[in-house]
Amino acid sequence: MPVKILMVCLGNICRSPLAEGILASKLPKNKFKVDSAGTGSWHIGHQPDERSIAVAKKNKLDISRQKGRQFTTSDFDTFDYIYVMDNSNYWDVVQLADNQKQTEKVQLILNELFPNENVDVPDPYFGLPNGFESVYKMLDEACDIIAKKLIEKHSV
Ligand code: 4NP
Repeated sequence: MPVKILMVCLGNICRSPLAEGILASKLPKNKFKVDSAGTGSWHIGHQPDERSIAVAKKNKLDISRQKGRQFTTSDFDTFDYIYVMDNSNYWDVVQLADNQKQTEKVQLILNELFPNENVDVPDPYFGLPNGFESVYKMLDEACDIIAKKLIEKHSV
């Protein structure tokens, strides 16, 4: 059974599709499965935002075939690790949890880079184009740490 990791943001078109593509590129495909979802329902079935597709492409990743979906409570059982992009995603997700085991699966992704600081990945949706570059960089650094930990822990 592969180890399953879910990346969550609000719309599932900007941040979490990038996080999914970046982490998947750093892990062996036979042992790990990475997916993403949004807490909101606006972008179900949509492709990632063109600005996320572009910054991924610039970094040699193709995220264009991803399709938006909404987080559901069954994700607590399906996934071993759930990384959220910001504090508001955190509260949206944990309020759907039934028990402590489910709550403990949910972590702020930037706490991997800045432990216990509860820093948000800023939502680049309404911002300037270079917001996507800086989000990419943060996610790439956090995913380097996550990938190393996962590979070590699940001794591939
Ligand atoms: P994301 O950005 O959560 O990084 O995918 C957003 C995309 C769309 C919306 C909000 C955030 N929206 O309100 O449509």
